[in-house]
Amino acid sequence: MNKVTWRSPSNIALVKYWGKKQGVQIPANPSISLTLEQCYSETSVSLVEKEKKTKEVELRFYFDGKENMAFRLRMLKFFDIVSKDFPLLQKYGLLIHSTNSFPHSSGIASSASAMSALSLCLCDLQQQLDNKKLKEEKFLNEASYYSRLGSGSAARSIYPYASQWGKTKSVKGSSDEYAIPFEKGLHKVFRNFQDTILIASSSEKKVSSRVGHSLMKTNPFAKTRYQQAETNLKDLIVALKKGDLEKFGAIAEEEAMTLHALMMCSNPSFILMAPSTLSMIEKIRQFRELSKLPVYFTLDAGPNIHLLYPQNIKRKVDEFIYAQLERYCEQGKMIHDNTGKGPFRVK
Ligand code: DP6
Repeated sequence: MNKVTWRSPSNIALVKYWGKKQGVQIPANPSISLTLEQCYSETSVSLVEKEKKTKEVELRFYFDGKENMAFRLRMLKFFDIVSKDFPLLQKYGLLIHSTNSFPHSSGIASSASAMSALSLCLCDLQQQLDNKKLKEEKFLNEASYYSRLGSGSAARSIYPYASQWGKTKSVKGSSDEYAIPFEKGLHKVFRNFQDTILIASSSEKKVSSRVGHSLMKTNPFAKTRYQQAETNLKDLIVALKKGDLEKFGAIAEEEAMTLHALMMCSNPSFILMAPSTLSMIEKIRQFRELSKLPVYFTLDAGPNIHLLYPQNIKRKVDEFIYAQLERYCEQGKMIHDNTGKGPFRVK
């Protein structure tokens, strides 16, 4: 029976999505991200004959070759939300195999790559069964829409290099329901931009994204934050078009620090940085000051640093990383990533 495999990358937000509006995964503010290449999920979905003739979804889920019940439950919740749009979910049983290119215990969030890979598989299979071939633009738009229902940030993994999600006056065609590509007009420096992920700690997330987002509901700075995101998005778009690295870096760092500050002043409060995160931030700022090189950082909702810099200074930045930052990484762990072309069908 039918089987498809998609590889879909992770992405790193520059303007962060943090906080949701009423509805299913509707962002409280617009966000923008760079699409990565080396950190990805590869997921294959096979349609098998159903054991029971009921409408209930039948699913076996394997992660890294082992049956995984926790992930299976998450998938079932997702299928519940999207099942009305995918008749295949009722008609066939599903056998899903998924792997990540990055180690499970690296502290890297996998929901963006995993949920986008899965959504691409579902959209692909459903169109095969319906015997129709959507235009690529429409296909990706649908895949982004369903990815968002699985995990908000996953909506942005669908597009090459950079992607924008969330309705805003600054971007024509923007939507809360799906991300849109930001390729046209993007300065060429960002087509091969470097992101070295410095693993400060690989322990489990202290707080799930779901809980983190919900804390914004009572955060006293929420309104100001949402305005700041709008302004940062508008300014960042100009920087991404011009290749203005200084402006790019200033916004990326402000967004990272704001995200963490918001968590610190939430109720309950969370400190998501590790001591080594702060040490690395200091080293990066010192290095930038002395070298005058465009090296910046951003953070996810966790302790790991994403070191962002253009490809043409990679050798110098590598020297800096190994001389001054490696010692702060857990067992020296880091992942060298870069912006990439987005998801593709493997077979
Ligand atoms: C800090 O997309 O993981 O990485 O929609 O609840 O699945 P859910 O949340 P998720 O949140 C990502 C938060 C972030 C910022 C970002 O990627 O924009």
